[in-house]
Amino acid sequence: MKIDQLRYLVALARELDFARAAVACDAAPTDIVEAVRAAEEEFGKRLVRPATGLSRFKGFTEEGERIIVWARGCVDDYDALHRRVGKARKRALLLPLLERRSVSPKRLMAPGPDAEEIDLILQGALRSPDHGRLHPWRVVEFQAAQRGALALLFAQEKLRRDPLASQRDLQLAREHATRPPVLIGFVVSPKVRSKVPAREQWLAAGAALGNLLNAAHQLGFGAIVLSGERCFDAVLAGALGLQAEEFLAGFVSIGTVAEAPPPQGHAFPGAVWSAWAPEVQNAGAARAGLGG
Ligand SMILES: Cc1cc2nc3c(=O)[nH]c(=O)nc-3n(C[C@H](O)[C@H](O)[C@H](O)COP(=O)(O)O)c2cc1C
Repeated sequence: MKIDQLRYLVALARELDFARAAVACDAAPTDIVEAVRAAEEEFGKRLVRPATGLSRFKGFTEEGERIIVWARGCVDDYDALHRRVGKARKRALLLPLLERRSVSPKRLMAPGPDAEEIDLILQGALRSPDHGRLHPWRVVEFQAAQRGALALLFAQEKLRRDPLASQRDLQLAREHATRPPVLIGFVVSPKVRSKVPAREQWLAAGAALGNLLNAAHQLGFGAIVLSGERCFDAVLAGALGLQAEEFLAGFVSIGTVAEAPPPQGHAFPGAVWSAWAPEVQNAGAARAGLGG
């Protein structure tokens, strides 16, 4: 028997009337009658006491009552399974978000995203929530031909910070510029004349950065954003073309994952979730002398 027909039998047992059972199931009364007929044929027993007319339901026979108990079990099991499948499906939909990890430049290799893929990643970033649609951020791509010049700037910045930096330190600084297959500077670029408060613009930029990393991940790339102290260096910022009101949030490395990052625990929603309780807030307000 089909699951719908089992539902019809269960509804008939509940409503004790063909027409009402049909309404409850959003079906035609003939569907309910047909379900009874199909069940009787399948089990080779009379399940409903004889009657004439659609709405004259005279109750189930003893065998019918037993079939109803069985049908209820089938429907409950089916619905429980359906709910579990539904939950699994929802989780699967969210998997790209749930499984994203940052992948360090050491674990990335070529190829990185090509121009078309970078464009797509930026489209993803531009879909992030953004008060006033200001896109208060921009990106600077450091293409292959410019990596040498960038490496020099990184080494010079390292020396400004640490005049005694070793050759190894300087080599590491240069590698931060040369190693990633694709390297993008993420610049927060607040629109100072806008009515949208600066903090909301920074949040919008952060949301865009999150989308950018997720977009790269969903395209199958590994990515990470790293700032480090060089992002706070005004000379470097100037050399990279940043304006006075802008700041460098970090450098985004993107490439093919050569080696998966080591497993890492992650926070659960309980760490950030709470339900507002007026009495707690009111107690706080009363303590602060704000009681009405
Ligand atoms: C703007 C920004 C700058 C970051 N800079 C650094 C950094 O300089 N060094 C670092 O180890 N992690 C930095 N992180 C954190 C990593 O990018 C990464 O998010 C962190 O290691 C957690 O890994 P996960 O993304 O796999 O959870 C930065 C994150 C953001 C959003």
